[in-house]
Amino acid sequence: MENKTLLEVKDLKVHFPIQKGIIFKRNAGFIRAVDGVSFSVRKGESLGLVGESGCGKSTTAMAIAQLQSLTAGSVMFEGTDLTALKKEDLQKMRMNFQIVFQDPYSSLDPRMRAIDLIAEPMRIYAKRGLLALTESEIEAKATSLMDVCGLSPTFKGRYPHEFSGGQRQRIGIARALSLEPKLILADEPVSALDVSIQSQILNLLKDLQQQFDLTFLFIAHDLAVVEYFCSRVAVMYLGHIVETASSQQLYHDSLHPYTQALLSAVPLPDPINARKRKRIILEGDVPSPSKIHKGCPFVERCPKAMKQCSLTPPRLKEVSPGHEVACFLYE
Ligand SMILES: Nc1ncnc2c1ncn2[C@@H]1O[C@H](COP(=O)(O)OP(=O)(O)O)[C@@H](O)[C@H]1O
Ligand SMILES: [Mg+2]
Repeated sequence: MENKTLLEVKDLKVHFPIQKGIIFKRNAGFIRAVDGVSFSVRKGESLGLVGESGCGKSTTAMAIAQLQSLTAGSVMFEGTDLTALKKEDLQKMRMNFQIVFQDPYSSLDPRMRAIDLIAEPMRIYAKRGLLALTESEIEAKATSLMDVCGLSPTFKGRYPHEFSGGQRQRIGIARALSLEPKLILADEPVSALDVSIQSQILNLLKDLQQQFDLTFLFIAHDLAVVEYFCSRVAVMYLGHIVETASSQQLYHDSLHPYTQALLSAVPLPDPINARKRKRIILEGDVPSPSKIHKGCPFVERCPKAMKQCSLTPPRLKEVSPGHEVACFLYE
């Protein structure tokens, strides 16, 4: 793996205004979906972004791709701040990063044939003069992408409803690859699929990573999936990153009480270790992201909370090489 930084996210915030009233809309506070997130992704690596549902993972991905406006922060892609780009420059830049969505059922236009779904991004960019391919070259490339993604090109003319969930996700992946991106923002790409299909799609993504030299931001709520796919992991809770580590470090030596609770819920293949391990039950739900908290976002559910945890927010600090945690237990 190279050491070059491909993506750098700095102090990213996305706050959604809560509006009350039907005629006279007034602002009744904000949902702090992403509240000061920083991380970087090196070329060739797969960084996992994990956390429970509602903690801001998808909003982070949408904000990186500039499909969601930012409240604050910057997103640098190969040294260019995406938030400062003019519309045309952003469009050109966008070829470099593509999203694979969670739900292959709702993310594909049901009226389009498989081949057209895969070819559409190329057609759009060719029309704008940003891609020098003829229509027949586009069609040939879309056909070969079907093959690369494990779909028989004889299915070209079929519509999404004629495919299984796993096959649809293959179409979504082929479509995302069509503009030869460097970075794939994979937003829970296997969460909507049957367990038996999940590993096939994960294997496909791994093969494609090798073949096309891809870098991944891989979003998941399932730590087992991330362990398989990612070299490094960032754990997110309520709009904040609470721990970053290599997969190894995280699975053997997690530090943040939230990470420990998440990990304790992952089934272990080895029953002896599984019996020894104590399952940490997280009490209550993730609190509302509209609440302003002075201290640690996890304080209300943390089994190890101390007095200072509700007073000031802990900062993300490196505690050993490559291992960062935001928790007063380690200060
Ligand atoms: N467009 C939106 N308007 C208002 N609130 C939103 C919007 N999108 C997401 N949210 C809220 O932001 C929080 C984070 O959502 P999301 O990023 O989808 O989390 P995750 O992907 O981790 O499940 C949630 O509380 C969600 O309800
Ligand atoms: Mg999501």
